[in-house]
Amino acid sequence: MCNYTWKVGRRRSGNAPILVDDTANIENACGSIILGKTFDNGMICASEQSVVALTSVYDELKSRMVKRGVYFLEGEEREKLAAFIEVDGRINPAIVGQTPKEIAHRANLSPIPENTVVLATEETVIGNDNPLSKEKLSPVLALYRASDFEDGVQLCRKLALTGGIGHTAGLYTSDLNTQEAKRREEAFLKEVPVHRILVNAPTSIAAIGGAMNFHVDPSFTLGVGTNAGSSISSNVGPKHLINLTTVAERQQHIEWLKIPRELYFNRGCLEEVLQGSSLNGLNRALVVTDKGIVRSGILERVLKCLKDSRMEVEVFSDVHPDPDMECIRNGVEVCKSFQPDVMICLGGGSPMDAGKFIRAHYEHPTLTLEDASTRFIEIRKRTCPFPKAGSKIKSLIAIPTTSGTGSEVSPFTVVTADDGHKYPIASYRLTPDIAIVDSTLCDSLPKSLVAYPGLDSITHAIESFVSVAQNDFTKPQSLEALHLLFKYLPESYMIGSPRARGACHRASSLAGISFSNSFLGICHSLSHQVGGKFHVPHGLACAILLPHVIEYNACESPTKMGIYPSYHYPQAASRYSEIAKHLGAPTHDADGLNKRIKELMVKLETPLSFQEAGVDEVEFINKLDLLSKDAFDDQCTAANPRFPLVSELKDILLKAYYGGEERKGSATKEE
Ligand SMILES: [Fe+2]
Repeated sequence: MCNYTWKVGRRRSGNAPILVDDTANIENACGSIILGKTFDNGMICASEQSVVALTSVYDELKSRMVKRGVYFLEGEEREKLAAFIEVDGRINPAIVGQTPKEIAHRANLSPIPENTVVLATEETVIGNDNPLSKEKLSPVLALYRASDFEDGVQLCRKLALTGGIGHTAGLYTSDLNTQEAKRREEAFLKEVPVHRILVNAPTSIAAIGGAMNFHVDPSFTLGVGTNAGSSISSNVGPKHLINLTTVAERQQHIEWLKIPRELYFNRGCLEEVLQGSSLNGLNRALVVTDKGIVRSGILERVLKCLKDSRMEVEVFSDVHPDPDMECIRNGVEVCKSFQPDVMICLGGGSPMDAGKFIRAHYEHPTLTLEDASTRFIEIRKRTCPFPKAGSKIKSLIAIPTTSGTGSEVSPFTVVTADDGHKYPIASYRLTPDIAIVDSTLCDSLPKSLVAYPGLDSITHAIESFVSVAQNDFTKPQSLEALHLLFKYLPESYMIGSPRARGACHRASSLAGISFSNSFLGICHSLSHQVGGKFHVPHGLACAILLPHVIEYNACESPTKMGIYPSYHYPQAASRYSEIAKHLGAPTHDADGLNKRIKELMVKLETPLSFQEAGVDEVEFINKLDLLSKDAFDDQCTAANPRFPLVSELKDILLKAYYGGEERKGSATKEE
């Protein structure tokens, strides 16, 4: 199968070039070319139009042609024929399918020999200025000389581009099935832009199938492909002419709950796990972390466990917030020299995000960010498969030290390319093998690292609960995460009690499991944009947007509904009601839920609007169109229960900026 595209040239039905190389049987080639050219007096669109012969066989071929009745016109006679072939740039109907004798008569040529079967000319010029280099649909043939095989291929390419794109070409080469013959066929295939290549066969007969090969369907209607204006590139057969009706019942995709194969939780479990059986058979541990974790003393705790387990240990602590490709490459270099069999990602979201892609890139060096982040509607049906993990690093252990991202259980990572573009990547092959959810690692977290990650978790739980992909296995996790977070997040923030920190830590993983398997929505789509362009912390951006997204989604008759096989009608409003009831909200509806969220935000001393969060009004308004458009394109938008219009996203952003329905400011977009 040839798999490249051609520039669309001047469209015409066909202009088959024929290459005769220096390994071909010249007697057979001559016979075959004349057979093809004389069939139906050259009427077939696939018939031979020009022959390109390598110089080493040129004279022999020409001499055999002459003996077989090919009459070469020269000088003034050639000029007369060339002038007669076209009328206003099109083939002159007076030559189509006529005998050489009749053509000679009509073109006012001098009498030609009685036994002439084909009229021929020797040519050097290819292009629209030379009618003899184009399709002639008559027993008229042009002969070109090529210096070697590569030159011959290029001449044929040029001839095909002169009105023969997508049609037919012929190659006469060794019929001994040699490696060299195969190489030449490949070279011809790669360069000559046609959809039928006939080897050692008359093109007019072989291209219409059946008689000279087993690979071309018999047909008189030959598709020339989309580059030449045809919907198909093969010969038209019955299958192209039969109208079929497909009956397809609505079916649900296969779904699953994919999580780490082991998940450990409760206070102090870190030591038990790292000194227990989870590391059996593993000897070399690479810890991926950041400088903050090194300074906090948490790294020491982990290193002690690993040393007690007699592990060889290396530490890569150069992960920065929003890990980029330089970080990934550095991490891969450490992997290459240390050759770990287990990777331990220790920290907030960034070390876990970095570790996931370092492992993938180390094990599959040709994996590109573009391929890894290929967009899809359904994560379970990626068009660009993500490579398997574990060929070198047998186990990836994620140990979160904050309670928010859920990355320790998720199939997601975000990596920034060298040009600054952020690539969100999703594949269950990125999911950690083991998660250790030990809240003692969060005991000393400052308040600033409690509120926003906690609000991020709440958003994960709510968005995954109303997602079009919500299912029986994720629903309970969302509800329990919300129960724990609404109950304990204020205590975790204000007092930092172990029980509250523990509850929020577990809730973060529960919400992570839920959104890893039923996904998020436009609150995250919008938050990604505002966070990226105005450096608003992710959890804060989510929290500010969340009430407005809830208000927007809780609509019984949305402009457009989210699309998913198991999502049959708008259900967001009833699902918000279910959450509100679960949380004991004052009213069991979206309003009640929003009241609970705003109460929580007040307790957490969180700004309620982007304006309050210090985002510049003029800059925000100026970027509003871009924010809305990019949010629409965000991967999270697909799972939202209401499929948004860009204008609706814009409205939500405005409400989130000013904190309500009414626009309080006076800024307008600067042109
Ligand atoms: Fe999030």
